[in-house]
Amino acid sequence: MKHPGSCQMLGYFAVLLVASLQYAASRDLRQVSEPKIPASCESLRGNGGDETSVLQKALNSCAKGRVVHLASGTFVSGPLTIPSGVGLWIDSGVVLKASTNAKLYDKGKNICGTVSTSYNGCNPLIHMLNVEGSGIYGKGTIDGQGGVKLVGKTQSWWDLAHVAQVKNEYQNNPTLILIEKSKEIILYSISVINAPNYHVIASLTNGFTAWGVTLNTPPSARNTDGIDPSGSQNVTITDCSITTGDDNVAIKASNGPSRHISVTNCHFGPGHGMSIGSDINYGVSDLTVTNLIQHDSLNGLQIKSDRSRGGLVTNVVYSDVCMHNVTNPIVLNTEYSKTATGNFIPEYKGITFNNIDVLTAGKFTFDGFSDEKPIQATLHNVLIAKGSTWVTKHSKISGKYVEGASGSKC
Ligand SMILES: *[C@@H]1O[C@H](CO)[C@@H](O)[C@H](O)[C@H]1NC(C)=O
Ligand SMILES: *[C@@H]1O[C@H](CO)[C@@H](O)[C@H](O)[C@H]1NC(C)=O
Repeated sequence: MKHPGSCQMLGYFAVLLVASLQYAASRDLRQVSEPKIPASCESLRGNGGDETSVLQKALNSCAKGRVVHLASGTFVSGPLTIPSGVGLWIDSGVVLKASTNAKLYDKGKNICGTVSTSYNGCNPLIHMLNVEGSGIYGKGTIDGQGGVKLVGKTQSWWDLAHVAQVKNEYQNNPTLILIEKSKEIILYSISVINAPNYHVIASLTNGFTAWGVTLNTPPSARNTDGIDPSGSQNVTITDCSITTGDDNVAIKASNGPSRHISVTNCHFGPGHGMSIGSDINYGVSDLTVTNLIQHDSLNGLQIKSDRSRGGLVTNVVYSDVCMHNVTNPIVLNTEYSKTATGNFIPEYKGITFNNIDVLTAGKFTFDGFSDEKPIQATLHNVLIAKGSTWVTKHSKISGKYVEGASGSKC
């Protein structure tokens, strides 16, 4: 046997080093530890009535580094903004209900709470814009009341979403938590239920931690994505539980690149999956999804875009994922909209699947756009159930899946 020369050895080390650096970098670059609830500046008790102005006043006068403590009862509120450095602590047993008065959320176009050819007509329930170190804490609940009839109307937010689908128009429904252009934002242990629209959007934000968050909206409610980072960096979503009517998590990049993202120790029930896309024109990279259970959902691990958007998705590692009763356990799709036009070709490369256990039969799709830009994926220890279908087009896949996953529950 020929011994490798020192030059060659150096080469091996360089390759190893680069490989390990790349692996190490495909995650949130921060050291994230379990958040602590800051001291309170004021304690409030809810009496079930509309307390928008009381809450906003308390938030506005709270000192930086402190939280407004909702200590007991039920609060009803319209849109709130959380100032920089301030938190909202919704204590155990406390419910913050989103008002069903659509007018309160209207952005001035008078279309919030209607189905229209225009969209984006509503302010969110909770807005964090251009702030640093703000957050929402506690074991309490934010109830979006998506299924409750709106004030003065015969329909709920969810009804509007269905009408919009039939008419091919837009429902103007509020997002529950919108974080924009901010830094170091925390959501800690709260439950968010019955969302009228998206639960949480983190847009153009550097440093976002969702720790121990539960999101729960019926799967029949349309467009109720769980958590959507877009154009955000250094993101950790951990210890989560998400059931909803659209993507459980959707990493987007419609306004800037999304990178350095960790999704760990989560449990996804019904929903459209752990998704990347579909608005990913600025690209998504350096994402790790580890220790995920998915069940009873349409998709498992999904990447979606089309030629109207393009987008490079690279350096993505999925490891230790278990699924049962998932229709499309892996779906990498470059023609998410078949009717899309344009020359922005989506490119997915450096996508690694490690220790994936899919216990029930499903459809696996690797649908690259062309042989010039094939999907490049690696499989290590991917176990799938008998009776599954495996479809690849314009794809370079190294490693093989093995048929013969067993067990009935993850
Ligand atoms: C991400 O976190 C690392 C480590 O804390 C930091 O050096 C880097 O600047 C952060 N990136 C952004 C875009 O904030
Ligand atoms: C499988 O998941 C679907 C939702 O995708 C659900 O309707 C169905 O009841 C589930 N089946 C079982 C056996 O749990």
